Amino acid sequence: MIRQAPSAARALPAGPASALGYWETRARQFAGAGAGLAAVCSYGMPGFYNRAIALVQRRALAPWLRSLPAGPAGLPRPTALDLGCGVGRWSRQLARGGYRVTGVDFSAHMIEQARARAAASGADCEFAVANAVDLDLGRRFDLILCVTVLQHILEPGAARRAIGALAAHLAPKGTLVLLEAAPARLCKRCDSEVFTARPLVWYQSALRAAGLRVVATRGVDPMPFKTWLLPYYRGLPRLLRLAALALATGVSLPLDLALAPLVAGMSWHKVIVARRTPGGPL
Ligand SMILES: C[S@@+](CC[C@H](N)C(=O)[O-])C[C@H]1O[C@@H](n2cnc3c(N)ncnc32)[C@H](O)[C@@H]1O
Repeated sequence: MIRQAPSAARALPAGPASALGYWETRARQFAGAGAGLAAVCSYGMPGFYNRAIALVQRRALAPWLRSLPAGPAGLPRPTALDLGCGVGRWSRQLARGGYRVTGVDFSAHMIEQARARAAASGADCEFAVANAVDLDLGRRFDLILCVTVLQHILEPGAARRAIGALAAHLAPKGTLVLLEAAPARLCKRCDSEVFTARPLVWYQSALRAAGLRVVATRGVDPMPFKTWLLPYYRGLPRLLRLAALALATGVSLPLDLALAPLVAGMSWHKVIVARRTPGGPL
């Protein structure tokens, strides 16, 4: 997700060509540890911070992570695609909820971890290594989930192609659920070599161009304290940095959880739900 502090990101190799290398390195370093959150939430940040992020994300996504009602025996189960699945935390939850799940990520190490974690937990998912930008799985899905992935595809044309690929993989009555940094107004202060916060209107326009219409927008983390702190975080002395982060996280967490459904507009990340435009191309 990654509200990557710019000073941390600056040490990374620059440019889109290095994006895969960046994620492979993160996966190798962190995907096997604990719940793997340091690989898929905020790199280099303390565990409490990543657990808070995971909690507000889970809460914001709850309506789409619910278990399916038991259908008539013999009918095929609804399908779900988890694009940019990382270590597969949402893939496993969707599979437990009754979906036939395919998790896709361009990092082979993430996928290795996702497979191992799904097998260990008894979740029945399949996984594949593929790039979102030119994704072509040759099938469509009833639900597509894409959590903090497009914000890491920096080149706008590539991000639009990824949205086009998502639309092409959506079943006629399917639902696309994005969770991305999508502030109300353009705000570049947390941008880095691996992260860009595009305003909500950018997503609305790219989804429209792909033949989708936004049917709901939901807040995730409306409290601004963490995004105020993060650009300065790495420059602070260690103890002060930890204290400031603990304070920002501790104040934000209950307020984010309580207010996210009420004040979507203020939220840094948003859940954006889209379906096919009626009468549009199938
Ligand atoms: C912030 S992590 C989120 C992982 C997962 N969605 C989650 O919420 O746990 C971003 C993931 O997107 C993957 N990713 C980034 N760019 C991608 C691309 N162009 N194609 C496929 N996966 C990509 C990364 O490898 C990484 O696993």
